[in-house]
Amino acid sequence: EKEKGLIRDSWESLGKNKVPHGIVMFTRLFELDPALLTLFSYSTNCGVAPECLSSPEFLDHVTKVMLVIDAAVSHLDDLHTLEDFLLNLGRKHQAVGVKPQSFALVGESLLYMLQSSLGPAYTTPLRQAWLNMYSIVVSAMTRGWAK
Ligand code: HEM
Repeated sequence: EKEKGLIRDSWESLGKNKVPHGIVMFTRLFELDPALLTLFSYSTNCGVAPECLSSPEFLDHVTKVMLVIDAAVSHLDDLHTLEDFLLNLGRKHQAVGVKPQSFALVGESLLYMLQSSLGPAYTTPLRQAWLNMYSIVVSAMTRGWAK
């Protein structure tokens, strides 16, 4: 319960518009693995450049990812209700060529974003709480991926 509070409060403290935080997250992700950029069909002749990360397509995906995290935060008490959605989401990523190992990099990038946004409020228990929630999301997506 303490974990849920840490997650809810920190997520809320990022503000209403989560897209800028999503951009920080995906900038980090593409730094960790630039090859992931190529999975976006519209990334042709675009590198890990800020121009690419401001293209409508990337912003669209960033927005979708932030909405999924937002849904998970809103459903901390009943994450299982998102199961079918997440299984299906994992399957869709299998179809577009994303490997489950890459989901872990997204987790790392999420923590990186939280650390840079929260500053001193980013504590070990907070980090652990987010890791726990994210691992539930990724485990469902990975099961869907493998189906
Ligand atoms: C769709 C890539 C991780 C949420 C897509 C698409 C691509 C993609 C290429 C299809 C085009 C589009 O809709 O923009 C990636 C890559 C990831 C990643 C490279 C890094 C590993 C994630 C994560 C989430 C997520 C972690 C959520 C937690 C979504 C959603 C869609 C989507 C909601 C739309 C699915 C639909 O059409 O119903 N992703 N994705 N993605 N992605 Fe990701």
